Amino acid sequence: MKISKTMQSALNNQITLEANASNSYLAMASWCEVTGYEGGASFFYAQSDEERTHMLKIVRYLNGLGVPAVIPATKLPASNFKSLESILKTALNSEQMVTAAIHKMVEIAQKEKDHSTYAFLEWFVNEQVQEETKFETLIQKFELIGRDKLAINEIDKILAASATVSAPA
Ligand code: FEO
Repeated sequence: MKISKTMQSALNNQITLEANASNSYLAMASWCEVTGYEGGASFFYAQSDEERTHMLKIVRYLNGLGVPAVIPATKLPASNFKSLESILKTALNSEQMVTAAIHKMVEIAQKEKDHSTYAFLEWFVNEQVQEETKFETLIQKFELIGRDKLAINEIDKILAASATVSAPA
């Protein structure tokens, strides 16, 4: 089975996006850890691992088709953050950007009648719905619980409870 050069380059670009997301969540985890947000640290360490599994899925898909995946250099992630709330907002923006890139790939697959890649991308489409909802719900907690020290401590505990790595399909 063959996939087009356009599709190959879109998938390779997605590998870069997932690698950058993994790195950026790692920087967020590290900031949370040194700042004393234990829940935030567990949450973002898990999130970073999860992004790595997303990257690997695409690497293995391309290699499985006999198209060597391009393992990218990653860009230097932001490492200094204002607050737990601002980190979660940054994360949501980054997820929205990833969602847009995935939707763009789905459109390419449709246009090229590339049914295999279309089917492969379905998992990512669903995953992004979950990811965006997860971050939106967490950000909402600041409105619901508050932004004082006790509230933030409570939200940090919620983050600890939300730290899960979803198994790759
Ligand atoms: Fe792999 Fe959260 O996007």
